[in-house]
Amino acid sequence: TRPLSVAVAGLGTVGAGLLTLLRDNAELIAARAGRPIVVTAVAARDRNRDRGVSLDGLRWYEDPVAMAADAQADVIVELIGGSEGPARALVEAALAAGKPVVTANKALLALHGTALAGQAEASGATLAYEAAVAGGIPAIKALREGLAANGIRRVTGILNGTCNYILTCMREQGREFGDVLAEAQKLGYAEADPSFDIDGIDAAHKLAILAALAFGRPVDFPAVHVEGIRAISALDIRLADQLGYRIKLLGIAERTEGGVATRVHPCMVPASHPIARVDGVFNAVVAEGDFVGRVVLEGRGAGAGPTASAVAADLIDIARGRATPVWGAAGAALTSIAAEPMERH
Ligand code: NDP
Ligand code: HSE
Repeated sequence: TRPLSVAVAGLGTVGAGLLTLLRDNAELIAARAGRPIVVTAVAARDRNRDRGVSLDGLRWYEDPVAMAADAQADVIVELIGGSEGPARALVEAALAAGKPVVTANKALLALHGTALAGQAEASGATLAYEAAVAGGIPAIKALREGLAANGIRRVTGILNGTCNYILTCMREQGREFGDVLAEAQKLGYAEADPSFDIDGIDAAHKLAILAALAFGRPVDFPAVHVEGIRAISALDIRLADQLGYRIKLLGIAERTEGGVATRVHPCMVPASHPIARVDGVFNAVVAEGDFVGRVVLEGRGAGAGPTASAVAADLIDIARGRATPVWGAAGAALTSIAAEPMERH
């Protein structure tokens, strides 16, 4: 069978991780996808940078947006980042050309997800984004497909690996905030601008996506109340510990009488709660459905391997021809209930 030919824009932590995963697990992926998945084109800024993975024989693009017109590429994978600039232009151009797109870009989806979904539906192209929320945890599939038969009451999550890593290392090792943040950056966990992590914006992007999926709303990032972890001190963490709590940055989306409320802020979580024990770069997503009850998903929320795992899962779906509407079952309801706003704080 003809391989699925993939063009990857962005060869940083996630892009290089994806090339490595597709190389190392090529055989099992081909078996599960029904055909080989092969990267044939790449784009990044610096052609000479050593990325720890061979780029021999791949078509190289200086301008990632030009990839959308690559006649040999079956799928475009956007791993550049940022809600505007080349990432947005590439995704829009690829969808306009009717090409399936896989992205890990939660900022882009939180700000333009509804419009991009409209574009994808109009052109019949897939827009897949499993990696955009909670790294390696299959949270999108779980909410969109696994829990599709449930009315969702609430979704709660530890949605930022960098913040959870910082809070964990401050508590367990008594380390300084700035020192752990620098380490998280070295490990490839943090955003290009780490204020997106520590100010809660990245978690809010992810929560806006989860809320849209869970409650069948258009993505409404401005409605999310956002507070980060800059103000959390070692003393706060120690005192919380003594009282039997852990401090976690949580994202919470819940149904209210007025609609849906979404907020991200540090919380005191009782040490006995399953989420309190989710430490380090791990994330958790807790969904409460009317028939299923509570579902807890946990796994690495950032880093090359976990994120590449989620991107590759989307590619396998595309290779098999399994196309899901961008917002799943809720997608159909998006337009009819768009008039009912998210609750604002
Ligand atoms: P990096 O900063 O490590 O990599 C970004 C890549 O994009 C680099 O290869 C860079 O090129 C390339 N790039 C940037 N600007 C341009 C441009 N104008 N033209 C061409 N190439 C460009 O980011 P990550 O891999 O960490 O993240 C990528 C995406 O995945 C982001 O949307 C991020 O939010 C998301 N994500 C990241 C996770 C993680 O753990 N890191 C987890 C989940 C999602 P060069 O290398 O030459 O500088
Ligand atoms: N910077 C993000 C985090 C990457 O730390 O969670 C994963 O989305």
